[in-house]
Amino acid sequence: MQQGVRIVGVGSYAPERILTNEDLAKLVDTNDEWISSRTGMKRRHIVAEDQATSDLAVEAAKRALARAGLDAGQIDAFVVATVTPDFLFPATACLVANRLGATGKAAFDISIACSGFVYGLTVAAGLVRSGVYNRVMLIGAESLSKITDYTDRATCVLFGDGAGAIILEGSSEDCFLGSSLGADGSNPDVLFQPGGGSRNPATAQTIEEHQHYIHMAGKEVFKFAVSKMVDSSLTALQKAHLTPDDMAYLIPHQANLRIIDSATKYLKVPAEKVVVNIAEYGNTSSASIPLALAELDSDGRLKQDDVIVFVAFGGGLSWGAVAWRWAA
Ligand code: UT7
Repeated sequence: MQQGVRIVGVGSYAPERILTNEDLAKLVDTNDEWISSRTGMKRRHIVAEDQATSDLAVEAAKRALARAGLDAGQIDAFVVATVTPDFLFPATACLVANRLGATGKAAFDISIACSGFVYGLTVAAGLVRSGVYNRVMLIGAESLSKITDYTDRATCVLFGDGAGAIILEGSSEDCFLGSSLGADGSNPDVLFQPGGGSRNPATAQTIEEHQHYIHMAGKEVFKFAVSKMVDSSLTALQKAHLTPDDMAYLIPHQANLRIIDSATKYLKVPAEKVVVNIAEYGNTSSASIPLALAELDSDGRLKQDDVIVFVAFGGGLSWGAVAWRWAA
């Protein structure tokens, strides 16, 4: 039985501690001018030492539940998109569901780096539209500061922590308009965490060589990001017989303001339709899109039938976009 799907609740959470560009300039050879002009970033929120990704996810989930007027027990499945799980296993979603009092419900993680939210939205919406589950919670949550090398100026200025959650529910109107996902695993080392998996299990040497941190060839990622964001946005829209002119908002993954500006220029989307909060949060990987969506929602800027395109790219390499109709 095919049914429609809509978003009935959005929530987000960012940890209290702030790391500014000036703070970073005390750690590595960098400065506010370089970081601001090359990335658009000013601050990032950073977890406390005793906080893990599930702690952020639970807070965002509670806010989404409150917004929807639902209890966790009314959710049928929990999906967490993250590359910074509490543990390599079990899935962080199991811990989150348990903490919310929903033990026994389906729970699993999605690991596709910064594309996690758009992949997760495609999967979660599919579960609802196919009638497998009526309500699915999707959370993008990251503690990237825990895998960031604060001696490497090329990466440490970029990443922050946070979480965003949405609740999808079966509906007579269908808000899922189209999705376009892709991946190319031919050069995984362009953006990866080399140590800690089965290829390079943790040893004293992997730790000494900083293999447990994010490693990135920034320029390589930059080059593919703009074209993939443009192509996947257009394809997702085309599947719904729409064009960029039909978009009320573009919510891009917040990796670099210059990447966002280039992509939106190609798509010919005016700046007021592009949701950008990179100055406040930096790059929070799979959390960046739901953090931005939660801002739009709480500001009361979303109207019935607004067409939104969510678009992301990241490690894999991976990319994707989802076109969505907002139901108020
Ligand atoms: O979520 C997806 C994950 N990642 C991304 O999307 C990242 C995509 N890439 C980028 O955003 C950009 O490539 C960066 C922001 C990472 C770097 O910007 P760039 O304009 O590509 O700079 P660059 O790597 O070409 O470096 C230019 C210069 C270099 O110095 P030289 O060789 O020209 O003397 C770097 O050593 O800037 C230097 N540099 C810095 N200087 C001050 C690199 N990092 C810093 C820094 N502060 N933090």
